[in-house]
Amino acid sequence: MKKIVDTGVVISQEMLQPGIYSMWIKTEIATMAVCGQFVSLYSRDGARKLPRPISLCEIDTEGKVLRLVYRVVGAGTEELSGYRAGDKIKIMGPLGNGFPLDQGEKCILVGGGIGVPPMLETAKQLYKAGKKKEDILCVMGYRNKDTFLTAEFEKVSTLYIATDDGSLGTHGTVIDAIKEQGLTADVILSCGPKPMLRGLKEFGLEKGIKVYVSMEERMACGVGACLGCVCQSKEVDDHSKVHNKRVCVDGPVFLSTEVEI
Ligand SMILES: Cc1cc2nc3c(=O)[nH]c(=O)nc-3n(C[C@H](O)[C@H](O)[C@H](O)COP(=O)(O)OP(=O)(O)OC[C@H]3O[C@@H](n4cnc5c(N)ncnc54)[C@H](O)[C@@H]3O)c2cc1C
Ligand code: FES
Repeated sequence: MKKIVDTGVVISQEMLQPGIYSMWIKTEIATMAVCGQFVSLYSRDGARKLPRPISLCEIDTEGKVLRLVYRVVGAGTEELSGYRAGDKIKIMGPLGNGFPLDQGEKCILVGGGIGVPPMLETAKQLYKAGKKKEDILCVMGYRNKDTFLTAEFEKVSTLYIATDDGSLGTHGTVIDAIKEQGLTADVILSCGPKPMLRGLKEFGLEKGIKVYVSMEERMACGVGACLGCVCQSKEVDDHSKVHNKRVCVDGPVFLSTEVEI
């Protein structure tokens, strides 16, 4: 898939919740991107040479704009949060494969924590393709009632919320919410922490539902060269000839039964 290194221009930046930011960036990358892909953002600080991978939360192909929603966890994301409208940013993408959108009539989209953002563009794409809101079931997991992106999800899907502390929606995990609501579908598309993805893989096997997982391994090059992001796969990889998949180029989205989670 084609990718470029571009100088993007920040259109806006806002804080959605303490430590969670939303940034819109004008870049040609938006014209080539699909849901479930990510970009890598370079730091202005020469000491941080490796770009930081962030998923695409929204893609405006015509306006050539991408939305990124991210949590500040270290120096790289702290720097990002300081960008303001008009600032330039070096950005590489689109990277990775993206979510398949043709896997059945009824879909459950699951996001956990900072795995929520990529599920928004995925829900929007399914809605644009003509699916009804009743067939796009979004189950989003948050720490507490300080949620983000819920209004956007409600415009294009049926939204269910789970919170760790029970302050909103189902008290517990996204899988607890799926069970509590008795949700079923032809396919589950998901992004979030590994224990959540592992639980969804088991749930899918138990119920006979296909599950796609977006893996967020730590990355270095982001383009398949360093093997810094491999996960264990069922099949032998063409590139490395071992049971490995490079999350940055073979993924980040995998059929759950193809990978060890
Ligand atoms: C494909 C992909 C998509 C991603 N999409 C998003 C997104 O949409 N929004 C978002 O907020 N974050 C996302 N991430 C995670 C994001 O890349 C990291 O949080 C970021 O690189 C941290 O950089 P930093 O310099 O701020 O922190 P660092 O100083 O590099 O690290 C700070 C802390 O975060 C941990 N950390 C860093 N990267 C990861 C990772 N990939 N997984 C788990 N822990 C990590 C480190 O172990 C350390 O404890 C994504 C990661 C990948 C691989
Ligand atoms: S990050 Fe280098 S191969 Fe994936």
